[in-house]
Amino acid sequence: MKHDHGTHAGETLLDIRGLTTAFARQSPGRGAGKGGAAVARAVDTASLSVRQGETLAVVGESGCGKTVLALSVLGLIPDPPGRVIAGEALYRGRDLLSMSEAELQGVRGNHIAMIFQEPMTSLNPVFRVGEQIAEGYRLHKKASKAEAAERAAEMLRQVGIPNPRERAQSYPHELSGGMRQRVMIAMALACDPDLIFADEPTTALDVTIQAQILDLLRGLQTEKGSGVMLITHDLGVVAETAHRVAVMYAGQVVEEAPVAELFAHPAHPYTQGLMASVPRLGVRRTLAPIPGMVPGIFDLPGGCRFRPRCAKAFGRCAEMPPLFACGTGRSARCWLCETSGAGGGQA
Ligand SMILES: Nc1ncnc2c1ncn2[C@@H]1O[C@H](COP(=O)(O)OP(=O)(O)OP(=O)(O)O)[C@@H](O)[C@H]1O
Ligand SMILES: [Mg+2]
Repeated sequence: MKHDHGTHAGETLLDIRGLTTAFARQSPGRGAGKGGAAVARAVDTASLSVRQGETLAVVGESGCGKTVLALSVLGLIPDPPGRVIAGEALYRGRDLLSMSEAELQGVRGNHIAMIFQEPMTSLNPVFRVGEQIAEGYRLHKKASKAEAAERAAEMLRQVGIPNPRERAQSYPHELSGGMRQRVMIAMALACDPDLIFADEPTTALDVTIQAQILDLLRGLQTEKGSGVMLITHDLGVVAETAHRVAVMYAGQVVEEAPVAELFAHPAHPYTQGLMASVPRLGVRRTLAPIPGMVPGIFDLPGGCRFRPRCAKAFGRCAEMPPLFACGTGRSARCWLCETSGAGGGQA
């Protein structure tokens, strides 16, 4: 069920450049007044792109900034305490970060869809789920009521909900958690978006349904050439679904590579740690534990942020490494990669 990795050199749909999102410290008690910073970066100069028909997987331990990255691009960071303080996120050449809320709303849900595990786009408890899917479709596609109802039932069928026509009449509380998640996915995909952000979209679902949802996303990609940014902890899903992988650590992109190369030769010691004990591609399903913890954004170490946990750290690591190019379409933020290519330049 794997993609043909050779046929996905589509045009760039999303180009994130130097994206930086900061949060203000919420409780002034701890650390503040003792020189602790009042504002810290949860995402720090991240640059990534998604092409047509491509899945970019974003991986990294809990707290590395994956969700903040996606929310930033979509204009969904709560302000206060957060704010995007630098960078651009070009969607088909237009900067999402400088769009008005009205413009963004026209793009979100229509051309760009979001699937979040957290009920960010949660269902409204007082409306039937079919109506909720139909409503978005009617609004964005200017469809008739009957067409929209038909589309809602079709989408429920596509996400594997049995008796979709009857189920469309249910209220959210009448459905299981897994079914609600599928309703949210149906809603997100109803308008045939061409860029999809999926943040742990299938972790709550059982394996059969998970495979069905991933197939649905793949179908959209092949038929429509949609691009997907897939945030996941599941290396099996990464291996089966992604074309390229970006690894995040403490708010930074620390490695980026085509999926096969990343699994075969992880360049950054952090990536090597995450993949430790992977005997073969895709056999280990989740990220391997690495001793120590991801630093909080208000407690980032100087120099390379992974240094305190890195078995390969040496003197140079007291200085922040830039992203070094290390092979075709590959880069890694590690001094050990310095000799393998010219500097990537995107510090
Ligand atoms: N509203 C907020 N206020 C302050 N800090 C925040 C806020 N939201 C996120 N952060 C911080 O930003 C950092 C990145 O969080 P984020 O949710 O993006 O991590 P993640 O990589 O998605 O983790 P997970 O895998 O657990 O979902 C964390 O240190 C988190 O505490
Ligand atoms: Mg998250």
